[in-house]
Amino acid sequence: MAWPYCAFVGFFLLGAVVSTAATDAEVDQRVEALLSRMTLDEKIGQMSQSDRLMTPFSDEVRQLIRQGRWGSLFNAGNPAERAEAQRIARTETRLGIPILFGRDVIHGYRTIFPIPLGQAATWDPDIVEQAGRTAAREASAEGIRWTFAPMIDIARDPRWGRIAESPGEDPYLASIFAAAMVRGFQGTSLADPSAIAACAKHFAGYGAAEAGRDYNSTWIAEILLRDVYLRPFHAAVDAGVASFMTSFNALNGVPSSGNEFLLRRILRDEWKFPGLVVSDYQSITEMTLHGYAADARDAAREAANAGVDMEMVSTAYFDHLKSLVSSGAVAGKTIDDAVRHILRLKFLLGLFDAPIPAAQTVTVTPESLAVAQKAATESVVLLKNDQNLLPLSDTVGSLAVIGPMADAPVDQLGTWTIDWRTEDVRTPLAELRQMLGNGRVLYAPGLKTSRDSSHDGFAAARDAADRADAAVLFLGEEQILSGEARSRAFLNLPGAQEELVEEVAKAGKPVVAVIMAGRPLTFHDTAARAGAILYAWHPGTMGGPAIADLLFGRAVPSGRLPVTFPRAVGQVPIYYAHLNTGRPASASELGIPMGTPAKPTGYTSKYIDVDVTPEYPFGYGLSYTNFTYENLRLSAPSVAMGGSLTISADIANRGRREGTEVVQLYIHDVVASVAQPVRLLKGFRRVALKPGEMRTVSFAIRTEDLAFYNQQMKLVTEPGRFEVWIAPDAEHGIKGEFVVK
Ligand code: BGC
Repeated sequence: MAWPYCAFVGFFLLGAVVSTAATDAEVDQRVEALLSRMTLDEKIGQMSQSDRLMTPFSDEVRQLIRQGRWGSLFNAGNPAERAEAQRIARTETRLGIPILFGRDVIHGYRTIFPIPLGQAATWDPDIVEQAGRTAAREASAEGIRWTFAPMIDIARDPRWGRIAESPGEDPYLASIFAAAMVRGFQGTSLADPSAIAACAKHFAGYGAAEAGRDYNSTWIAEILLRDVYLRPFHAAVDAGVASFMTSFNALNGVPSSGNEFLLRRILRDEWKFPGLVVSDYQSITEMTLHGYAADARDAAREAANAGVDMEMVSTAYFDHLKSLVSSGAVAGKTIDDAVRHILRLKFLLGLFDAPIPAAQTVTVTPESLAVAQKAATESVVLLKNDQNLLPLSDTVGSLAVIGPMADAPVDQLGTWTIDWRTEDVRTPLAELRQMLGNGRVLYAPGLKTSRDSSHDGFAAARDAADRADAAVLFLGEEQILSGEARSRAFLNLPGAQEELVEEVAKAGKPVVAVIMAGRPLTFHDTAARAGAILYAWHPGTMGGPAIADLLFGRAVPSGRLPVTFPRAVGQVPIYYAHLNTGRPASASELGIPMGTPAKPTGYTSKYIDVDVTPEYPFGYGLSYTNFTYENLRLSAPSVAMGGSLTISADIANRGRREGTEVVQLYIHDVVASVAQPVRLLKGFRRVALKPGEMRTVSFAIRTEDLAFYNQQMKLVTEPGRFEVWIAPDAEHGIKGEFVVK
């Protein structure tokens, strides 16, 4: 039976929108049938994507859609305009090929979840998946079937503003996160009308931008590339991600959008990726500025031949592909393959068969808000809690609420949010007022924004602290300080925030700092002055309730850092999975404060003006209770190549509250043909424990999990000695050893 007929019958039988998942063979057949009818112009149209605004939806735009000018439109128009554009594409173009509408649904659509770095701090793939699913439902209801997420660039440099969008520094955690996001967006089948195609980006190496400056070049040795930067992308392919986006950077001198090694050899030949590759925004024509292509025509040739199927925004394909094909510089087969990838995704999404969607507008729902609140709650990391200052007691008479982030609905959403509404956002101030009653909350922001350096509001803030029993300061970075093109050379709390903390601390009341930021910041003085610190990233729509609950013990912090926090910007890049040097410094080798007389120090790998250790290590985070790690044991002292081993430890809750510990497994390959990191994360588990409860947590490790890329670029496990830790973070834990034979 012909495919369209099946879908047609199904539609009427069920009397509803059906998602008929076609087999690969059926889809391929339809793709070939359609491709054989297409002109070269129509093919090039499919390979072109625009964010050209449809508002106002002009006659010119309608006409261009009728001509098949674009295979995809993104971040454009409202639901009604998208529906109308789709109607024109489906019913008024020669072949009725639907438009694929894309959008940057990065951490939520209408309901905004924590920034991706915050989601990674949950160490909870289930909530990450639920957030993705919720975002997909909302976006698809408004006609979006493709998101440019997950962004899975390994980021080890907090100067880089896009670290906010990333899953942090670790390839294992990032891989788990990548797969969870892909599952969330795509659901169980792309044919489900609520599924949206995911896009693994930015391929590749973008997070290693030199000096943390966005768009900057990266030089990454192939071993490091494969072992660190590419791993989450491979995991996304394994999870069935529908598309890839290239990156802006030149990788080892070759811009990603013209990088055959990445796009053909690795992605297609090695990983067998069957999906669609889109360029980043104008990254094809930017190859001229990189000094890699002579002009737009040359750039189009490079990109098409390297394997970029669709060009985002710039028009090098539209302007030049036709003549490049006639001159033989780009083969007809290259064009056909690109169009195959594009049509295939459109068929898989059911775009040809679904009824033309009516325009709808989504709103937040109790369910979407519950997911957002859970994600926000789990993302918050308790960095300090002297004398159990937190949770605050319900009996606290009055609370001073201070700081520029206490009531900043837009800023708490963070970077890359498009479709939110202010009225949905619940700020900490609003929530605390509701929880405690207006009269008990003394609000004095102190500063208008995070960058405000005026002291005009300090007196009122100090006065509030004087009159209250405790002060909570909401500090951090406003929305536009992180994200794309928002690199910073300083990592301090901007504006006069540190001075505000100093002033408020003079009141002598307990001080809690809640920091909302898109990156790890350095805030040493504030950390010394505050009795407790909650690091809340940009927590999204439900940041207020999540934080209020954590402050008052209705929830217990369980977030853990997905990235190392430096003491000073000069330590960057600092990450836990570094190699040893021939002269490792011991953690106790303190820096010599500048200005003190010189004294001889050891010739070890350290700084003379700051401690060598991080401020807070990867994996770190406290709870309102405490956990012990005991009795590490291995199922055997050695394992044969190809076999597996179980490593267990007893984790107990020794405090008086229920809490969730994130138990982490690290290994170290002691001697290898390529020196290996001092520790590498290989597993983790969130474990909820009641007071006094003890649980044995076990991890199975296969010898293939220990593999690394050797000098011949082969993924190998080498025999020898391995150290292993079950640990609360990358610097502590209980240790054992085993041998791979
Ligand atoms: C960003 C991408 C994004 C695209 C479309 C680019 O500037 O690098 O991550 O998906 O714009 O908005």
